[in-house]
Amino acid sequence: LVLGVDSSTQSTKAVLVDAADGTVVDSASVPHPVGTEVDPRAWLEAYDAATAGLRDRAEAVSVAGQQHGMVALGADDEPVRPALLWNDTRSAGAAQDLVAELGGPQACADAVGSVLVASLTVTKLRWTRDAEPETAAAVRRVLLPHDYVSWHACGRSGEPFTDRGDASGTGYFSPADGAWRPDLAEAALGRPVALPRVAAPGERAGTTPGGAVVGAGTGDNMGAALALDLQPGDVVVSVGTSGVASAVSPTPVHDGSGLVTGFCDATGAYLPLVVTLNAARILDLQASLLGVDLATLSDLALAAPPGANGLVVSPYYGGERTPNRPGATGTWTGLRPGTTREDVARAAFEALLCSLRDTVDHLAAATGLTPRRVVLVGGATRSPALRELAPALLGREVTLPEAGEYVALGAARQAAWALSGAQAPPSWPRRGTAVLEADPQPQVNAAYAELRDRTASWADQEGTS
Ligand code: XUL
Repeated sequence: LVLGVDSSTQSTKAVLVDAADGTVVDSASVPHPVGTEVDPRAWLEAYDAATAGLRDRAEAVSVAGQQHGMVALGADDEPVRPALLWNDTRSAGAAQDLVAELGGPQACADAVGSVLVASLTVTKLRWTRDAEPETAAAVRRVLLPHDYVSWHACGRSGEPFTDRGDASGTGYFSPADGAWRPDLAEAALGRPVALPRVAAPGERAGTTPGGAVVGAGTGDNMGAALALDLQPGDVVVSVGTSGVASAVSPTPVHDGSGLVTGFCDATGAYLPLVVTLNAARILDLQASLLGVDLATLSDLALAAPPGANGLVVSPYYGGERTPNRPGATGTWTGLRPGTTREDVARAAFEALLCSLRDTVDHLAAATGLTPRRVVLVGGATRSPALRELAPALLGREVTLPEAGEYVALGAARQAAWALSGAQAPPSWPRRGTAVLEADPQPQVNAAYAELRDRTASWADQEGTS
């Protein structure tokens, strides 16, 4: 048996899996504190609690985690401040400064794979230097969330380690060279800082106090890609706290437009991806404004016509990364005397899916990959309205793998790989997949073509603050 752990923004999920075929035999989940800055020690407690009944039964464990979070440790290897998470946008100004220092957007993408935005770790280092100089002076080591939890899983024996997938989300790693750029971390923080060793994809990177193998771990998006065993032409669209479109690429991507981040994957290839900060949050806000739960929001949405009688939502409620508008707020337009609760619910799903459609289109444009099929995953896929509207609004074949904790399953597959000592991850039987049917009525497609045009021009007109 092997243990896969997903230390996500909202919870720690652990799955105990048969290493031979990927069958889940047991699982557990423990919630995390909410917020965009969190004491990272809470993740260690959640790891201990979630794996309590599982870890002694596993021969190997791997941890996948939310990307980008800055875990800044002092001389005693304890946090000097709460971790700043991927969805914290306070470092937007720092991101602009660093892009300029690197010689502009294309030079930045060439150096570190991505044009820096507030999510990436390096911008949080610069923010700390400028806003909290005393904290910055105390920092000795910087880890990512998954590195911090993996090191804990090893009982802190040996040096901390990371993998190239998660390292590629820091902004001080070169995906093309597969190597740290410690000079960039130092320039951001204003002092040298210790970085974790970058373990190879299938490596036995460490050992637990109980003697189990610890795999390299990876970022959550790389973990999901490993679990889904993507084929050429597949784009994964994950609808969770964030919305993410990603695809495996054999070559590194350097998108100077900044829409596509050129990350590495967990196998030795690359995982360009596009992220929206506003995904499940759009549904949550509209449900709470209507005073209903998400199941009722879905029922209401399906009772409204396509296009929500002209109600259009620009859903950048909490600042946005795609388009890159960290200061944006949301806008509703087309409210009329006859606008109904059903329209409001429908507009939430349509806004979410239009925004996800943009992410797939950006990914295709920047990588030259041709997305033929969207593989839809994430918590929001439980919503019947999301599933029913997705094919028409995403404009491609949409498949829905059977429900599963894909990030934790990817970590489990990596653990099985490390345990096997093989060159490649074990092949596990593909999990069942449903093909979602698009609504065949031509007026639905016409309504959505018009809606997509309207939301696209909204994105162009929004303020840039
Ligand atoms: C990826 C990103 C998010 C987090 C979510 O760049 O910021 O998908 O990984 O945990």
